[in-house]
Amino acid sequence: MFKKSRNKKKTSSNIDLQELDIHNIPKHVAIIMDGNGRWAKKRKMPRIKGHYQGMQTVKTITKQASDLGIEYLTLYTFSTENWTRPESEVNYIMNLPVDFLKTFLPELIEKNVKVETIGFISNLPNSTLKAIEQAKDQTKNNTGLKLIFAMNYGGRAEIVDGVKALYRKVQAKEIAIDDIDEELLSSNLMTKSYPDPELLIRTSGEQRISNFLIWQVSYSEFIFNEKLWPDFDSEELIKCLKIYQNRQRRFGGL
Ligand code: IPE
Ligand code: IPE
Ligand code: MG
Repeated sequence: MFKKSRNKKKTSSNIDLQELDIHNIPKHVAIIMDGNGRWAKKRKMPRIKGHYQGMQTVKTITKQASDLGIEYLTLYTFSTENWTRPESEVNYIMNLPVDFLKTFLPELIEKNVKVETIGFISNLPNSTLKAIEQAKDQTKNNTGLKLIFAMNYGGRAEIVDGVKALYRKVQAKEIAIDDIDEELLSSNLMTKSYPDPELLIRTSGEQRISNFLIWQVSYSEFIFNEKLWPDFDSEELIKCLKIYQNRQRRFGGL
């Protein structure tokens, strides 16, 4: 297959983009950022150190995604099931957006990134919610990369919510039951303003979906990357994009 590649073109991180087809960059990349705990354990450090380091990776990957012209980057930050972890770990993770945005918001603004969320964010602690709302507010007119944090997000709960919303519309006679189709359910999910991800990456070698975007990934390409999330970097992201570009997407056709 012939590929137009930008010879010698490098991104701000100085990574060679040779053989990356800039005309075939997925619009929407979703990432299950997994392996923070194991990264810390390997270094005999408490798990929270892994979460701290993982936050640094979020910065790197966001900047790289923006440089590459990815339009939507959805990051699985905290699942509806992650509340079952020890309270001290949950508290630490809940405080990360506060830290993250304090240090990174100016750069996000400068890069024209728009911060958004999916998930049941009203159940987050007040300080977390405040930091997120502030970031959303300060980036709301930005027109570049949409950085979507999935926080207290669960795919099944999202679908249940969508079904309830449709039921209410039927009851209110806004729609008829036969109006319900895939498109209408999609438009009643938290992801309604985003296209489905073409590419889903999970780090840390685990090969499961863990309740992430279960409706939206029905035809996404899955890449399971062996790196633990704190070790994931721009080079790995570009490797994933190259793998994606060599996949043949068929959507059930021939
Ligand atoms: C992912 O890393 C971050 C969250 C789920 C919040 P983990 O904390 O799951 O790390 P491992 O899988 O235990 O190594
Ligand atoms: C998925 O990772 C959730 C996030 C990355 C936020 P988990 O570590 O919670 O998933 P399991 O428990 O290994 O399936
Ligand atoms: Mg994990």
